[in-house]
Amino acid sequence: LATAVPTGDLTGKKLLVTAGGTRERLDPVRFLTNDSSGKMGYAVAAAAQRAGAQVTLITAPTALVAPAGVTVVPIESTQDLATAVTQRFPTVDGLIMAAAVADFQPLTQANQKIKKSPENDEFVLKLKKTPDILQLVAGLKQPHQITVGFAAETQHLLVNGQKKLTKKHLDMLAANDVSRSDIGFNGDDNQVTFLFPDGHTHETPVAPKTTIASLLIDQVSQLFAQK
Ligand code: CTP
Ligand code: CA
Repeated sequence: LATAVPTGDLTGKKLLVTAGGTRERLDPVRFLTNDSSGKMGYAVAAAAQRAGAQVTLITAPTALVAPAGVTVVPIESTQDLATAVTQRFPTVDGLIMAAAVADFQPLTQANQKIKKSPENDEFVLKLKKTPDILQLVAGLKQPHQITVGFAAETQHLLVNGQKKLTKKHLDMLAANDVSRSDIGFNGDDNQVTFLFPDGHTHETPVAPKTTIASLLIDQVSQLFAQK
């Protein structure tokens, strides 16, 4: 089924795709992360590559094998990801941010393994905001470049999605409703609604992430055609 889906033409386009859940270190052996498997981002990288794009996949640790022919840049933290993306963004035509980026990082990182003490039954962890990568990139964006975000929402999908699209100056946002049990973070299937700055939306069926990725790449190639 996945291969039966037509994929748009991205010949000659250079794309950055991010994937996986970032890790925010507490100490040498511990980190905070999220449930992202990286499957959606890897599927997008593969679909873009099949469509003829030159793809760089910037990836947080996952259990996945990168698609053949794609340049892989491994990262761990949101700060690493921000550096990797902002360094490369000026040289590409587009950025697809499928990574599940941590919103907060520990205020400090311990050099040694944190010890528990007999006096304290509680441990208070202070976090600070991470940089918003799409927001940083919005300030670097040239007219020929497109940026695409993903948003997982548990409520008010379209309203929250449209706000993010505007705030981050995106050309498209793939929004999915993670309150549904049949789709989402760790499974093989997904369902997304593509939102656009002019307010129009396009809903995909529930389908394997590989199919959703091809549909997304079709939309991306249309966006380039409209530039
Ligand atoms: N994103 C980013 N940098 C961050 C956080 C998120 O670039 N520090 C990107 C994600 O990769 C995604 C998009 O922004 O493509 C939307 O992420 P989401 O978590 O839905 O939105 P937030 O702006 O973090 O808002 P909130 O989590 O509060 O809903
Ligand atoms: Ca977030």
